[in-house]
Amino acid sequence: MKGKKILIAASGSIAAYKIPILARFCIKAGAEVKVVLTPSAATFVSPLVLSTLTKNEVLVEMASGNSWANHVALGRWADVMLIAPASCNTIAKMAHGLCDNLLLSVYLSSVCPVLIAPAMDEDMWHHPATQKNMKTITSFGHTIIPAEHGELASGLIGMGRMAEPESLFNHLMTFFQESQQLSGYSALVTAGPTFENLDPVRFIGNYSTGKMGIAIAEALAGKGCNVQLVLGPTHLRASHSNITTTNVVSAHQMYKICSDLFPSMNIAVMSAAIADYTPNEVSAVKIKKRENDFTISLKKTDDILKHLGSIKKNGQLLIGFALESNNEKEYALGKLKEKNADAIVLNSLNDQGAGFSHDTNKISIFEKNGKETKYELKTKNEVARDIAEKIIELLG
Ligand code: CTP
Repeated sequence: MKGKKILIAASGSIAAYKIPILARFCIKAGAEVKVVLTPSAATFVSPLVLSTLTKNEVLVEMASGNSWANHVALGRWADVMLIAPASCNTIAKMAHGLCDNLLLSVYLSSVCPVLIAPAMDEDMWHHPATQKNMKTITSFGHTIIPAEHGELASGLIGMGRMAEPESLFNHLMTFFQESQQLSGYSALVTAGPTFENLDPVRFIGNYSTGKMGIAIAEALAGKGCNVQLVLGPTHLRASHSNITTTNVVSAHQMYKICSDLFPSMNIAVMSAAIADYTPNEVSAVKIKKRENDFTISLKKTDDILKHLGSIKKNGQLLIGFALESNNEKEYALGKLKEKNADAIVLNSLNDQGAGFSHDTNKISIFEKNGKETKYELKTKNEVARDIAEKIIELLG
């Protein structure tokens, strides 16, 4: 933990009394700690105690006197933000993007991974609104440090007690260890659709949003990998300082960039939905409406995965995707062999919640050695983490 920058953000809950102990553990382990509190948290734990322990000013208000707390700078300063305790109210506001205090504005402007330790009474924890909000914040890719069963502030015994300082500290340690797992590695990731122009206003495309590929890029980056993301046309963006994005439009542009980048990469994950065919001719002017029937002549695009498979060197790991609607396993295994990939991630259109435009996905991974791993239906961020874990396993 030496030299790591930890931002602890505490909201209003009695569990805030555990934060000075956690801050001390982190400082003793060599980390630099800054703390932000909601005004309500400041009634449970003294900013003076925390600023004395951390040797940093503890911020509570967006502005005081003539000075303004720079929430963007704080969000960018941290290697990790730990929201603990995360009260029911703060979780609800995070889920909906509300920004009515300093803690929330730091959270919304943070670019680092976020860990969340909920704390509340059992009935509030089990309320469908809280469970829905928890699902929403989990889908943002944050890590949840589970609430525990035990004595609550109400005197009742039940779920909702925030993890103890030792446990929070261990989660931070694990986070830093995992964030180094792929340090020194580089990965090429393709994501999104490609658009093949017909004329200045029309194209042939597909419904891919790039969500799965962006999540994979972020999962690898979160493990310390340097990622080159080659992204087809989409409104989505990747956010991690280890990711460099190159935006492309057509299959041919994607082919050129991937061919240039691949030789210097350790890993390539081809999750883009690349057009298999492109128009033989692109009209320089808008095509006018004429006869009843209109025929477009198409030619095959370069198969990028197959090309990378043909130039792959020993030690390089190449992962492809297969989206199938029938004979799924047979087609996936065919692609694995034909394209000389090390593994193929299969999505079946027959699985509810899998494929394009969903927030979830259900995958199976087929490896060259014949091994098949099946996964449950999960959010795309969770699926991306599974794929990153599999990559670490395949790298040995
Ligand atoms: N792929 C590629 N270049 C293409 C087409 C596909 O690199 N021109 C990659 C995809 O990114 C994916 C894998 O090949 O990793 C399989 O893509 P998919 O569309 O499922 O299969 P195709 O090989 O295109 O075959 P088909 O469409 O007939 O299933």
